[in-house]
Amino acid sequence: MTNSPDAIGYLQQLRFFLSKPSNIKLYIAWMGAKRAGYLLLRRESTSCFITEAVDERFREAGVATGLVRFAQECCADLTAEILLTNTASIKLHQSAGFRLTGDDGRIAIYRFKRGQ
Ligand SMILES: CC(C)(COP(=O)(O)OP(=O)(O)OC[C@H]1O[C@@H](n2cnc3c(N)ncnc32)[C@H](O)[C@@H]1OP(=O)(O)O)[C@@H](O)C(=O)NCCC(=O)NCCS
Repeated sequence: MTNSPDAIGYLQQLRFFLSKPSNIKLYIAWMGAKRAGYLLLRRESTSCFITEAVDERFREAGVATGLVRFAQECCADLTAEILLTNTASIKLHQSAGFRLTGDDGRIAIYRFKRGQ
């Protein structure tokens, strides 16, 4: 939800985690004893905003698909804001049933509504 593809430093991550508002939930995907990725859900009145990231070592093995499926069980209405250049994330959300609802030339909005 930073809308930036840049790496986030450990200190920045820790600061965020310690001060995160109560409408944000963070989940970790484990592969054995290793953290493979995370899912972040931010509940707003309009929708639940989703973002996820998978460690490069575990990519293209279905980890993010599993995280998105879990999010779809938690929230009936999900919104993903994705950089138009982020092919992997666009593919992930399209495959999971999200539909493009618009873009501002830089960021595309993908929406999932359960039952539609
Ligand atoms: C986007 C990201 C989370 C995908 O994670 P992943 O675990 O590799 O995704 P999956 O293995 O579940 O693949 C999901 C789909 O996307 C496709 N995909 C994954 N990486 C891809 C790539 N680099 N190029 C094209 N398609 C790709 C897979 O083939 C799969 O398609 P399918 O459902 O038709 O089989 C991962 O690349 C990542 O962490 N990127 C950096 C962070 C990021 O951009 N997060 C999203 C912010 S909006």
